[in-house]
Amino acid sequence: MASYLTALPHMLHGADYNPEQWLDHPEILQKDIELMKLAGINCVSIGIFAWAALEPKEHDYRLDWLSEIIDTLYENGIYSVLATPSGAKPVWMAHKYPEIRRVNAMRVRDLQGGRHNHCYTSPIYRKKVRQINTKLAERFANHPAVLLWHISNEIQGECHCPLCQEAFRQWLKAKYGSLEQLNHAYWTAFWSHTYTDWSQIESPSPAGETNIHGLNLDWKRFCTAQTVDFFANEIAPLKAANPDLPVTANFMGFYDGIDYWKLLPLMDVVSWDSYPSFHNTDNGDESGNAMWNDAYSDICRTMLGKPYLLMENTPSQTNWHGVCRPKQPGFLRLSSIAHLAHGADSIQYFQFRQSRGSCEKFHGAVVSHSGRTDTRTFQEVSGVGKMLASLDALCGARVPSQTAILYDMENHWAVNDAKGPRNDDIGDTDLFFRFYRPFWQAGIPVDVVNADMDFSAYKLLCVPMLYLLRKETAQRLIAYVKQGGTLILTCHTGVVDEHDLCYLGDTPACGLAALAGVRYLETDPLYDWQHQTMRLTKPPFENMAKTYQLNKLCERIAAEDAKVLAVYDNDNPCEPDGMPVLTCRSEGRGQVYYLAAFAEDKFFADFLLPLAQSLAIEKALPADLPYGVCANQRIAADGTAFYFLQNWTRTPQTIMLPFPLQDVESGRCYQNKLPLPPYGAIIAKPQ
Ligand code: GLA
Ligand code: ZN
Repeated sequence: MASYLTALPHMLHGADYNPEQWLDHPEILQKDIELMKLAGINCVSIGIFAWAALEPKEHDYRLDWLSEIIDTLYENGIYSVLATPSGAKPVWMAHKYPEIRRVNAMRVRDLQGGRHNHCYTSPIYRKKVRQINTKLAERFANHPAVLLWHISNEIQGECHCPLCQEAFRQWLKAKYGSLEQLNHAYWTAFWSHTYTDWSQIESPSPAGETNIHGLNLDWKRFCTAQTVDFFANEIAPLKAANPDLPVTANFMGFYDGIDYWKLLPLMDVVSWDSYPSFHNTDNGDESGNAMWNDAYSDICRTMLGKPYLLMENTPSQTNWHGVCRPKQPGFLRLSSIAHLAHGADSIQYFQFRQSRGSCEKFHGAVVSHSGRTDTRTFQEVSGVGKMLASLDALCGARVPSQTAILYDMENHWAVNDAKGPRNDDIGDTDLFFRFYRPFWQAGIPVDVVNADMDFSAYKLLCVPMLYLLRKETAQRLIAYVKQGGTLILTCHTGVVDEHDLCYLGDTPACGLAALAGVRYLETDPLYDWQHQTMRLTKPPFENMAKTYQLNKLCERIAAEDAKVLAVYDNDNPCEPDGMPVLTCRSEGRGQVYYLAAFAEDKFFADFLLPLAQSLAIEKALPADLPYGVCANQRIAADGTAFYFLQNWTRTPQTIMLPFPLQDVESGRCYQNKLPLPPYGAIIAKPQ
């Protein structure tokens, strides 16, 4: 596998760099190099939106300026993450070739403007991308300064133009073979929506069809497939010029427009752009934001089973949050350490130099309009640079995880489009986080897999709300349990097949009802202000409370061949009493739990942590962590364990250490206690 680490065996410290905005300011470009060196920056992401400068007129390619900048950077020890420019098409192109402009679901074609808005099908746009990428590849694919290809930018969106409609129909023909099959999969006899000719099929639209759930799902799958195909077209000339130069694409946290997992076979390394709304609470408790951020880092690390790159984060503030608060003193270091802790091999920023005009002129940057180095941001960025420079041994280190939670994009699409049983947020992501939170707080490392990934290596697999269940996934879940895995299934699982057609017969379908020994009866969704109660009849672990609150979705099940651990305990005589909520059953060498309702957070902590302990699942650091303090571990190639300790609160905290640790930066040793100041963080090794 190609690795950027071969060229530069250091943690990457970099930023989006847009010299094309400053080509008529050579003194600024010169100054940039000096400032980058001062900040300890060893790479820049360059060329991201530079198409108009690279091809100012059709076929008039101007790559010399880029070449000069890449060379000068390199002479100064700064490498390039070279982007393809397809994320923003030049104005001349959009006017000359209207077909490359995206058409929205209302069938209105964009005027030229903005970015990330080209058609993925247009043969003209694909050709233009291939041509510019060929030029870039000829010039730079074997350049020693170039570490990595950065494909486009934040790949996203969908196009409903006539070309895309036709491609969609072709894609459907290849998938279904006949209209009869398609009509069956889409259940079109409902409301007389039967198609009698392929030409009648159109993408979902608020002005037309939105009710065929199978069509909605296929449209999202098609948009994903078209994006993947476009991506393959983008990278073909790059890989032809140098198959060993790795490619990445920068993902957006929890973006659900396309299924990013389908891009992975074409990617060498995953990267993401991390912009949590830090400092949006009144009490300074940042654990909610940190948890969201860490969960997406865990997703990115699990995607290819190796470290990811943090491609963008703001060194201070964004300019697009509701209120754009700058990172408070010390917070950049803390949030950077959190990324390293979860598997990042880089800290990169948007942006190096603050642009002077247009809509991002007030976005945070390493170098602000003042151009000074004594700003707090510049100083803190330099501090991160210094820290990264001492962490060569961490490059490529893994995050060992014995627990996984399943989060699957197709399931997410389907369950949120289902029309019932709860249209005010069915809560699949909420339930994911109810599982994630206790592990995160206790310092138990978690991988996040999708339904297609191999889960056989995990001791514990949590599967919240797998509404869309493929037979093949069910078979792997059954095999997982038989071979000794511990599986937790929840309400609203195994309800529909891959077409969003409800399974007939007992559910959870495809053998999961038998596996769990339970059978679905009915669902009682609750309003946000309502709750029901569960009572533990056979508490699986000591120290669990007698009762817990339930909310959002309460399912009634029959326990046919499972041990009932908890039941509904509702005072209201109109609500069921005594019916199972939590069950357990053994199968082969493993066991399966079924949780029939959304339980309050405390239940998840009280249940999951002793369960993990009973399975001998290791914590990153065998210590009890105060609230808001995180501990993570990475193991380097030579076996060295690195520990990452983070305080997400405004209160000083102390960790009682199970063994002495030494701060890798300062060399300071901690025997029994490790104090963390407000928003403090350290990286340590066993002494
Ligand atoms: C995204 C983009 C960048 C920039 C930043 C601003 O991540 O990739 O080009 O617009 O947002 O936060
Ligand atoms: Zn299109």
